[in-house]
Amino acid sequence: MSPPSTATLFSYSLALLFLLLSFSTPTNASNITLILAKYPQFSTFNHYLTATHLASQINRRQTITVLALDNTAMSSLLSRHFSLYTLKNVLSLHILVDYFGAKKLHRISKGSTLTSTMFQATGSASGTSGYVNITNLKGGKVGFGAEDNEGKLDATFVKSIKEIPYNISIIQISHPLDSTEAEAPTAAPSELNLTDIMSKQGCKAFAGLLQASGADETFNQNIDAGLTVFCPTDKVVSDFMPKYRNLTAPKKKSLLLYHGIPVYMNMQMLKTNTGTMNTLATDGANKFDFTVDNNQEVVSLDTTVVTAKITGIVKDEEPLMVLKINKVLLPKEMYKPVEPASGPSADAPADSTPADDQTLDHDGVGGLGDRRMGMVMVVLSLCIGMLLI
Ligand SMILES: *[C@@H]1O[C@H](CO)[C@@H](O)[C@H](O)[C@H]1NC(C)=O
Ligand SMILES: *[C@@H]1O[C@H](CO)[C@@H](O)[C@H](O)[C@H]1NC(C)=O
Ligand SMILES: *[C@@H]1O[C@H](CO)[C@@H](O)[C@H](O)[C@H]1NC(C)=O
Ligand SMILES: *[C@@H]1O[C@H](CO)[C@@H](O)[C@H](O)[C@H]1NC(C)=O
Ligand SMILES: *[C@@H]1O[C@H](CO)[C@@H](O)[C@H](O)[C@H]1NC(C)=O
Repeated sequence: MSPPSTATLFSYSLALLFLLLSFSTPTNASNITLILAKYPQFSTFNHYLTATHLASQINRRQTITVLALDNTAMSSLLSRHFSLYTLKNVLSLHILVDYFGAKKLHRISKGSTLTSTMFQATGSASGTSGYVNITNLKGGKVGFGAEDNEGKLDATFVKSIKEIPYNISIIQISHPLDSTEAEAPTAAPSELNLTDIMSKQGCKAFAGLLQASGADETFNQNIDAGLTVFCPTDKVVSDFMPKYRNLTAPKKKSLLLYHGIPVYMNMQMLKTNTGTMNTLATDGANKFDFTVDNNQEVVSLDTTVVTAKITGIVKDEEPLMVLKINKVLLPKEMYKPVEPASGPSADAPADSTPADDQTLDHDGVGGLGDRRMGMVMVVLSLCIGMLLI
């Protein structure tokens, strides 16, 4: 057997690399925006999926059916002048969190079913609203209607646009689905008062500091484009106050801005996108970043000075996310990093959160990030590949 040429080896390596890369993303790899871009008759629908951030939510799901509306159906919906946030609820009722290809639609057991939607899944809907009734009708038609629509099936199946079996199905329906609940006026996230939200959920002290320092303005300005806030709980902040009072006004502000990242990240995203994060305090050379670690379902933020754990969700409404943490984040630009040998909480304020009982081994195997694990896999597979040739 002649030794394999360099080109053969190279192509094997590439193939393996692609194989591994495709395994490393647990989400459905399709991009709804790109798929719909090929169909100009859905351009308005596609535009609003992006504007409402629903496109990214669709791309993150593994099993999804999108009930697409063409430009004519969309203009009848837009003529009702919903706010963008209400429109988001209405459109999320058109996203089924199950897979329905054309075949499955025409073969529904007992001829009728109720299926859950993204409107229901995000917790915006109450009771059974947020479910869609799909019914096989006479003459091979398939009817669709919101569950809270007094039995009316507003729309019928028109055609299948794209089916990737059991991952994503995009089908056209004739009319928008009416639902009183989805159409109810919704407060825009920027109309939500971040201070109020945090104050009512155990982050009153932190909210007070944001207001007193003027840092709240920067947080509010970032909500529309996507914002994740990590708020230390009240006890944690009160223990930290002696140190905080010692800071100059600009340093106080930097420390507070360090608790926000200018992007929406839910728990699922934080678990899969571990690594360095820029913060609202980042300004060119003033990096003010921290690292997100994920170890056995516990997500922690490591500033090199302190490691804080995420202990709860205060608010999750894309584009705004507010999470509770059990320590004040101390940037290495302002505090001396702890020596790697000492424990993670050497310089940390005392904290009394129950979640802190499950102390983690900071230098354990969990320190091997996904990426490094991926590299190890690539090298291993390459070796196996070479042996097989
Ligand atoms: C469907 O999604 C799964 C899980 O994310 C993925 O492994 C699979 O390759 C996808 N199938 C297709 C045809 O894209
Ligand atoms: C999907 O495609 C759009 C348009 O090209 C792009 O802006 C967006 O970043 C893509 N999303 C993902 C998750 O790749
Ligand atoms: C769906 O709606 C039809 C028409 O109103 C009704 O007859 C049927 O019982 C509904 N199906 C379910 C599962 O609720
Ligand atoms: C939020 O509410 C507080 C009082 O509850 C008020 O002082 C503050 O100005 C409000 N912020 C915004 C952005 O409306
Ligand atoms: C505050 O600063 C003073 C002077 O630098 C220092 O002596 C003191 O220990 C500091 N207090 C705290 C709580 O850090």
